[in-house]
Amino acid sequence: MCFKRFLVAAAALLELLVGTADRGSAQAPPQAPRRAGGFVPGQKRAPEDPAQVARGKTLFDINCRACHGADLRGGDMGGPNLLRSPAALTDLNGEQIVPIIHGSRKDRGMPAIGLSDQDANAVAAYVRSVIETIGTQGKPPSSKEPPSILVGNAEEGKSYFAAKCASCHSATGDLQGIASKITDPKMLQNAWLAGEPKGRRGAAQTEEGPTPTATVSLPSGENVEGKVVKIDDFIVTVEQADGTIVSFRREGDTPKVVVQDPLKAHREMLPQYTDKDIHDVTAYLVTLK
Ligand code: HEC
Ligand code: HEC
Repeated sequence: MCFKRFLVAAAALLELLVGTADRGSAQAPPQAPRRAGGFVPGQKRAPEDPAQVARGKTLFDINCRACHGADLRGGDMGGPNLLRSPAALTDLNGEQIVPIIHGSRKDRGMPAIGLSDQDANAVAAYVRSVIETIGTQGKPPSSKEPPSILVGNAEEGKSYFAAKCASCHSATGDLQGIASKITDPKMLQNAWLAGEPKGRRGAAQTEEGPTPTATVSLPSGENVEGKVVKIDDFIVTVEQADGTIVSFRREGDTPKVVVQDPLKAHREMLPQYTDKDIHDVTAYLVTLK
């Protein structure tokens, strides 16, 4: 850790300890540039960008939740509680969390996670936003109220939708009334970013989106299709449409197995959205009542 970072971390920790931390309401210039690790001493943290936080949440759910838990308090796979993590508590602009995501704790059991700097920073923003909510407990609720995320341009969102989403979705078909089904714009944003309806059911529900399916081509020429129950190098088990569960032994490429992940498109698109795309598409989707 270089000396400057040490000072920054120490200052932040001190601030926490003496209880004067008031980071959420810090009055930084609204458009303060946010460079990775670029912290100007004396400047407090700017409020998090809601679109960044929303994207970070989605990335967290995909990449971190299994180990650190949906509520960040630790998960089934042995990650520690991030709400008590010194690194997460002192993070100002990704300088603590991002290197950990990139593998600086490999030798202590946290693998490197394959995220770009930009995505790792979004996850860090999300982690900070959760810590901030907890840090402001006891203050009037108004100080916790996140700024509205409905700042986009619905018309431009509509054009974006026509270009990038309409091959699979339609405003008058499967997504008709989506804003009536998912009434909270933040949940709606999470749902379309992840391609999973779980936002609709609330964060506590661990229900995942649609399951991958597989087509198994048997040497006889027969094809068996179904939802993937289990797949490894030796066996593939699928549940057919009528509920029958069948398993096949695998030896190399026999039988041939092709897995279709229905949310592949959503996962691949995630890193491509700009903040503006996210704002605009959400603004458009809330009009689909
Ligand atoms: C395979 C499980 C696993 C995954 C996935 C994982 N972590 Fe971790 N993480 C760990 C373990 C184990 C540690 C404890 C390492 C140590 O002792 O420093 C840890 C430590 C951390 C710490 C430091 C905690 C401290 O002691 O201050 C942070 C921050 C963190 N992880 C964030 C993340 C984020 C963000 C992601 C997703 C991008 C993630 N982790 C994904 C297992 C995981
Ligand atoms: C290649 C196909 C494909 C593309 C392109 C695509 N999606 Fe999806 N999307 C899916 C699939 C598959 C699901 C899961 C559907 C389900 O479970 O009903 C899904 C789910 C969703 C959901 C959740 C639906 C629900 O009922 O909760 C929303 C919202 C959504 N997509 C919006 C979008 C938006 C906005 C775009 C463009 C930025 C987009 N999708 C692009 C295939 C696609």
